[in-house]
Amino acid sequence: MRRRILAALGGTVLAIGLAACGGEGAGGGDTAGERPTELTIGVSMPTQTSERWIADGKAVKEKLEAKGYRVDLQYAGDDIPTQSQQVDQMITQGADVLIIAAIDGTALSGQLQAAADAKIPVVAYDRLIRGSSHVDFYVSFDNYKVGVAQADALLVGLGLKKKDGSKGTATGPFNVELFAGSLDDNNAHFFFDGAMDTLKPFVDAGTLKVRSGQVKIEQAAILRWQQETAQKRMEDLLTSSYNDGGKVDGVLSPYDGLSRGIITALQNAGYGAGGRKMPVVTGQDAEIASAKLINDGVQNSTIFKDTRLLAEQAVVVAEAFLQKKEPQANDTRTYDNGVKVVPSFLLPVQTVYKDDIKPVLVDSGYWTAEEVAAGQAKG
Ligand code: GAL
Repeated sequence: MRRRILAALGGTVLAIGLAACGGEGAGGGDTAGERPTELTIGVSMPTQTSERWIADGKAVKEKLEAKGYRVDLQYAGDDIPTQSQQVDQMITQGADVLIIAAIDGTALSGQLQAAADAKIPVVAYDRLIRGSSHVDFYVSFDNYKVGVAQADALLVGLGLKKKDGSKGTATGPFNVELFAGSLDDNNAHFFFDGAMDTLKPFVDAGTLKVRSGQVKIEQAAILRWQQETAQKRMEDLLTSSYNDGGKVDGVLSPYDGLSRGIITALQNAGYGAGGRKMPVVTGQDAEIASAKLINDGVQNSTIFKDTRLLAEQAVVVAEAFLQKKEPQANDTRTYDNGVKVVPSFLLPVQTVYKDDIKPVLVDSGYWTAEEVAAGQAKG
């Protein structure tokens, strides 16, 4: 919207802009009566190196376009300055709402101030934006529960728990190693907290042993959720803590990309062949390459977060803002971004073991059986 560009430039110019633009869409406070075709939603996604963000971006774009909105979808290649620049540009080009999945949750406060000055509502998508009062809403999943589900899957895989939550038949002790996501991603902390709260009693009882001693999130974290970094850390762990013939029984991994790096390191060290069992490796996102690994019995499980539902929710929230309505939250307590508690809509998550691939992923149309078999999305 032209008026928005001017608004972003400052008060005096704004006054002239308002006079000059007449009935044109003004965005921010004035979008309620606008036709969708007059409105643009800026969608800023972190990276295309992971399928899930490609699927997220595609789903949000398609759903908004189906309602007639214009969409400016940008990927930032996991580069913080690129994302800042893309969001800046969305603001100056007159976006009416911003939907942002941040690379670094603390790096966008300048952009959010500019968005607030131009009265553009900001929706944090899956990753909370921290350190700014200008985050208007948060759509995500129950991230603490993701961590609990990952830890439970690890315990089930080891036989310490049954799927129904009751006690398993195994007694251990088992050697496990722990991985966490990127420290600048708020979610990484929720995942790790949920997992560690669940694993702690087993660690305290000596049933689970972390030979490396690396049990703090700072020690377990993988910057930018990079697969290669996870592979390297797993290799280092094997060298430093398992070169005496000891074996790894399980690895807590918070994301499928990391899981694949971890699995590669384990396979290179001889696990999963010649009678050496592949450790129980968890995951998240039901990425297609990992769905295949689960189907093939290599990866234990993943946590499925239906990005179609998340995209749908983001659209509902964006539309509410455009119509000047209060979006409906189902959590107004949990997501404190350091400045305020951000009203949130959290979706449920589902653990997927091999047997769940068909009913959960295939029958719902998330992946086809052929894609799972090939480990590749058809596109
Ligand atoms: C997190 C997200 C996870 C995973 C990870 C790496 O923010 O919640 O589902 O996608 O990023 O991309």
